[in-house]
Amino acid sequence: MSTRILVVYYSATGNTAQLASSLADGAREAGAEVRLRTVAETAPPEAVASNPRWQAYVDAGPHAELATLDDLEWADGLAVGSPTRFGGPAAQLKSFLDTTGGLWFQGKLADKVATSFTTASTRHGGLESTLLAINNIFYHWGAIVLPLGYAEPHLMESGNPYGGSFVSRKSAEPDKEALEALRIQGSRLATISGHIAKGLRGE
Ligand SMILES: Cc1cc2nc3c(=O)[nH]c(=O)nc-3n(C[C@H](O)[C@H](O)[C@H](O)COP(=O)(O)O)c2cc1C
Repeated sequence: MSTRILVVYYSATGNTAQLASSLADGAREAGAEVRLRTVAETAPPEAVASNPRWQAYVDAGPHAELATLDDLEWADGLAVGSPTRFGGPAAQLKSFLDTTGGLWFQGKLADKVATSFTTASTRHGGLESTLLAINNIFYHWGAIVLPLGYAEPHLMESGNPYGGSFVSRKSAEPDKEALEALRIQGSRLATISGHIAKGLRGE
């Protein structure tokens, strides 16, 4: 049975979506079955319209299916990503995560392996605080938090040990170095999730 990986993200202008896609590729390369999902845009139309890049991204969608609670339950491993918003995750992502109370109460999110990723426009603009805030949710679920660390040589150059990240400065798109770190994160998530899931099934 293939390892099942859910990648769920929010993106307003496409950067986090690109990171999510690279992470998903890494998980697939490691042999996992992957569901790449986004969450609903809940911002009012006038807020979206106030930023031409945001409006253009919305107009070009839908970019992925919307994540469901079934996707969360299905997965052995999860990667959750958001742009940094004032040093934390976007409300759109948080709204989805806040619907998981029922699954949490039934213990259905415990023992899944979970990892986080983000993008921010400035180097010290809150990448780590966003990753740690997403990880806080994983602790409450009883999930097994998977950091990126410096697990491969590439990460010594471009990595963020807390999770995949990219500094988008003046709207730059994720570069090769960042996308490679995300690919490594996906591969690592698939590999470790597979070992844990097999162990839990007693295989
Ligand atoms: C409301 C708002 C809040 C933001 N807060 C931060 C922040 O705290 N630190 C930062 O460096 N960038 C911040 N940004 C910039 C975004 O995190 C950045 O542009 C990111 O790459 C966008 O990702 P996306 O293309 O996936 O939406 C903010 C952007 C918006 C619209």
